[in-house]
Amino acid sequence: MNDRFLVLGRGRLGNSLHTALLAAGLRSQLLPGRHGVATLRQRLGENPGAYVILAVPDPAVQSVASVLATSGVRPGTTVIHLSGSLGLGPLDPLRTAGCAVGAFHPLQSFPEPRPPEAFRGSLFGIDASSEALLAELDDLATALGGLSRRVRDEQRALYHLAASMVSSYMACLADQGATALRAAGWSRAEALEALIPLMTGAVDNLAAHGLPGALIGPIRRGDPDTVQRHLAAIATASHGGHLDAVYRTLGMVAVDLAAEAGLDAGRVTELAKLLRPAVSIAG
Ligand SMILES: NC(=O)c1ccc[n+]([C@@H]2O[C@H](COP(=O)([O-])OP(=O)(O)OC[C@H]3O[C@@H](n4cnc5c(N)ncnc54)[C@H](OP(=O)(O)O)[C@@H]3O)[C@@H](O)[C@H]2O)c1
Repeated sequence: MNDRFLVLGRGRLGNSLHTALLAAGLRSQLLPGRHGVATLRQRLGENPGAYVILAVPDPAVQSVASVLATSGVRPGTTVIHLSGSLGLGPLDPLRTAGCAVGAFHPLQSFPEPRPPEAFRGSLFGIDASSEALLAELDDLATALGGLSRRVRDEQRALYHLAASMVSSYMACLADQGATALRAAGWSRAEALEALIPLMTGAVDNLAAHGLPGALIGPIRRGDPDTVQRHLAAIATASHGGHLDAVYRTLGMVAVDLAAEAGLDAGRVTELAKLLRPAVSIAG
């Protein structure tokens, strides 16, 4: 496997990946993303064969690729981006210039630079312009303690949607729980302190029991009276915002999971009816 990398972009993932590559015993240099092309060309001259990793924001990937392609990057150079939503298309200028191109996206979140452990156990969504590079990216995922799966251009939007939904909507779900508790007089900090251990336990439960086994709560138990009380409380809560819509929409998902887990059909119908969006009749 190639063991030399030039990471272009010193942001959250660039930093984290550079540290993890070094920790895995590989050679890596972290270079400026903005105005870094001249430095990159010089380092590539000193390290022919090093893989270039574009750790720049998604909207900059194509323009950086174009600049590299027209700035004399040698044919045969390998250039990889880290985006989950972009396919290999934005690297086409490099491909046309004779470079091998790939994508190496850690299905993990880096709100700030994180230590090498952050990559362990993570899946990397990979793709490449050749089977040889694809195999190398698989080896690289393994070297970082993760595993890989090929995600082709046409699968990228759904792959990235799943990743963004699960990672960012987790924070949104916590916000909605906190909204309910704030309506009951708690501060947001008090609410989060109470909810985070509950959420961590729910993720552990999901890992242990999968779906639909991890679903718990009144919908799984087939308890319409409790659901009715929740809806009534939401209706009277001040500053509820999206709470009613979120409760009902995710409640419908819970009904489907409860049905899959064996809840009887009568209860399923009753709960689904209860959770249907409230119709407002404009006067
Ligand atoms: N953060 C995550 O959780 C995460 C997770 C998976 C994948 N990714 C992917 O990783 C890539 C980098 O994301 P990031 O979160 O690390 O971004 P980031 O923290 O915003 O850092 C990006 C770096 O790119 C450079 N840069 C900024 N604008 C540029 C431009 N117009 N042209 C060239 N370079 C520019 C800057 O580096 P310098 O300061 O060196 O100039 C900046 O620090 C993206 O493709 C993203 O989708 C991120």
